[in-house]
Amino acid sequence: MKLQERNDDVNNIETKTAYSKLIQTIKWTGEELFLLDQTKLPMEVVIEKQESVNQVWDSIKMLKVRGAPAIGIAGGYGLVVAMRDRAGLDYDDFILEMDRQAAYLDSSRPTAVNLSWALKRIVSKVKSLGRRPVAELFEEMIKEAVAIHNEDRLLCRGIGESGKSLINDGIGILTHCNAGSLATSELGTATAPMYLAFEDGVKFRVYADETRPLLQGARLTSWELQQAGIDVTLICDNMAAFMMSKGFIDLVIVGADRVAANGDVANKIGTMGVALLAKHFNIPFYVACPGSTIDLLTARGENIEIEERDAEEVTFFGERRTGPEGIKVRNPAFDVTPNELITGLITEKGIIRPPFDINLKQRFGAAAKAERSADTL
Ligand code: MRU
Repeated sequence: MKLQERNDDVNNIETKTAYSKLIQTIKWTGEELFLLDQTKLPMEVVIEKQESVNQVWDSIKMLKVRGAPAIGIAGGYGLVVAMRDRAGLDYDDFILEMDRQAAYLDSSRPTAVNLSWALKRIVSKVKSLGRRPVAELFEEMIKEAVAIHNEDRLLCRGIGESGKSLINDGIGILTHCNAGSLATSELGTATAPMYLAFEDGVKFRVYADETRPLLQGARLTSWELQQAGIDVTLICDNMAAFMMSKGFIDLVIVGADRVAANGDVANKIGTMGVALLAKHFNIPFYVACPGSTIDLLTARGENIEIEERDAEEVTFFGERRTGPEGIKVRNPAFDVTPNELITGLITEKGIIRPPFDINLKQRFGAAAKAERSADTL
């Protein structure tokens, strides 16, 4: 079945496509929010109804829903969940409460800009409407959250169209973490060119880094690509250099949690190491990212806040302790790849190449200007 024939109904958890086993990570029924618990994959498919804003906050924090675009979408619906019982408030209190809940949701994870981007977008939309009945404002809030969700599908598809010509018959592609369907609303970012090339009949291999400590590559990427029928091989993170040195890797495509104005990219910890290896072996290193991940208000990568997570993620492998009790641990969840290691940014507006500061501003500057004038959380 061709991609265009897909059932685009947000209410269907399972997508009906050539990639028939891809599962929607976020479902909005019109009244209720459901999230796929990604921490249980690939062994169990568990979908949880989100009863409260606190539950949505926990789902984001605990990585039940994860990946930059997906946490933006979930955050937007989370704000709807937070405000759905506030119909009795007058206008001023509704706005105050909306600001408070948006700031709360935004505090769940700091690095991926999509979360604050989505929340700011909904808050500014509601405020731009002026003094209207609260019920009307709430309806507009839902519409904006749904629009963010639906637009993400198109962004992913656009990334796929921009990047698929990079994938030729016989090549090997390395990816890191999960920037796939599970991290977005449909085709993923790093995986979108792969899905479209696959649909066009191109024969290629993907190598998925397992991505310690939480194994998004092993649990999610290798699973989702395998389900789709793509030739995927799982490797441990420390095998990437060997695979490159033996000529198995011709191209690297990873996702992004935030792209700074100068093209520096925050992505899952370990990404910078892959970029350095790619430079050494003269392998093109691409970052796939939608406009919602490009943050022109952050000048450089060093200005991006890097989330530091619990030590237990490092001292345990699943249920099993693998480090001594009381050991000192560092657990930064992301690193920043300097722009000079990046061949290009695959976006819905085409592939952006160096000089990134100039070219990003040219393609995405107007959107950033509009955001600058919007309220901060
Ligand atoms: O901690 P995670 O699993 O949310 O980290 C996700 C990543 O780093 C992804 O590569 C990134 O968000 C891009 S998702 C399209």
